[in-house]
Amino acid sequence: MGKIILTGDRPTGRLHLGHYVGSLRRRVELQNSGEFEKIFIMIADAQALTDNADNPEKVRQNIIEVALDYLSCGIDPEKSNIFIQSQVPELCELAFYYMNLVTVQRLQRNPTVKAEIQMRGFTSTDDDALQKKGIPVGFFTYPISQASDITAFRATTVPVGDDQAPMIEQTREIVHKFNAVYGETLTMPEMLLPDNAACCRLPGTDGKAKMSKSLGNCIYLSDTSKEIKKKVNSMFTDPGHLQISDPGKVEGNVVFTYLDAFSTPEHFAKFLPEYSCLDEMKDHYRHGGLGDGTCKKFLCNILEDILQPIRERRAAYEQNIPLVYEILRKGSEIARADAAKTLTDVRKAMKIDYFEDSELIRQQSEKFKSK
Ligand code: TRP
Repeated sequence: MGKIILTGDRPTGRLHLGHYVGSLRRRVELQNSGEFEKIFIMIADAQALTDNADNPEKVRQNIIEVALDYLSCGIDPEKSNIFIQSQVPELCELAFYYMNLVTVQRLQRNPTVKAEIQMRGFTSTDDDALQKKGIPVGFFTYPISQASDITAFRATTVPVGDDQAPMIEQTREIVHKFNAVYGETLTMPEMLLPDNAACCRLPGTDGKAKMSKSLGNCIYLSDTSKEIKKKVNSMFTDPGHLQISDPGKVEGNVVFTYLDAFSTPEHFAKFLPEYSCLDEMKDHYRHGGLGDGTCKKFLCNILEDILQPIRERRAAYEQNIPLVYEILRKGSEIARADAAKTLTDVRKAMKIDYFEDSELIRQQSEKFKSK
């Protein structure tokens, strides 16, 4: 059996550079590696509703934004199947069965669920908190729904950031349990982490935390050159590096963190031939004599180099939105057909395929005849 990828994103906003280094860039590489028999990329609208119950229209509006970001980054609908989660109702059915294989206590121990309960203010005593003192059942059980997403497509490989590790672990437990109870039916998935640690957690432009829309520290894939220049120029560097001649720190200096994530020797040859590589540039900065302005200009050039083709592709797709919906419709159809096949296997394993089970009908007939 060939390898199958399933991964996805919640459509709650446009995608940013954190998504790009953490997952999108990798997905395109995996797509073009030819190593995978099938690739499914899911826009997780139903999962997004689990913590946006008060704002369903936001989720609805952002489906197209995420689709445009995928396509503009080089996800090729001929090679990767992009689909919308809610259009595959088989996923709900599967989750309903899995719910019996997971305890409330186990869900309560899921570190991502725990962190998000805090972050979303579900248990806040503040009356203005998003969900007004309470955890929506759908939110609490979303790891189970995520196990359905992964297993419905028989994914072998789930490329995600390390924040998703508890979800994959939970999925593996469900697969193990299901196969133990009903016989070998589901495929055991593996998580695939980004290979470069700097890419796992790209900080926001303020250097404080991961890029996050609510913190306003994101560079979006769809930002204009002007917006990018402004954001790079306002980036946090080393507050002790006042004069160009002062020695500077590269640790915790956002410009260098971004250079770690994005710069290649080709970028040096093209934009900053004084140095052959990032280590040389860092040495100069540490010793003094290299100004923030030069570093920022270099970073702007690199980001422009990466984002310009993405921006152009996006602009072209933006002129043809019906085509993008058509891609999503076709992708959802293909996804649904695959999920339906898995559901047939699952029902059979669970022996709830009553009308297909001629042995059951025969046995019951005998039982009542001999009464
Ligand atoms: N939870 C993921 C996120 O927030 C999105 C997602 C939903 C997902 N279902 C998935 C990722 C299945 C990988 C596999 O980004």
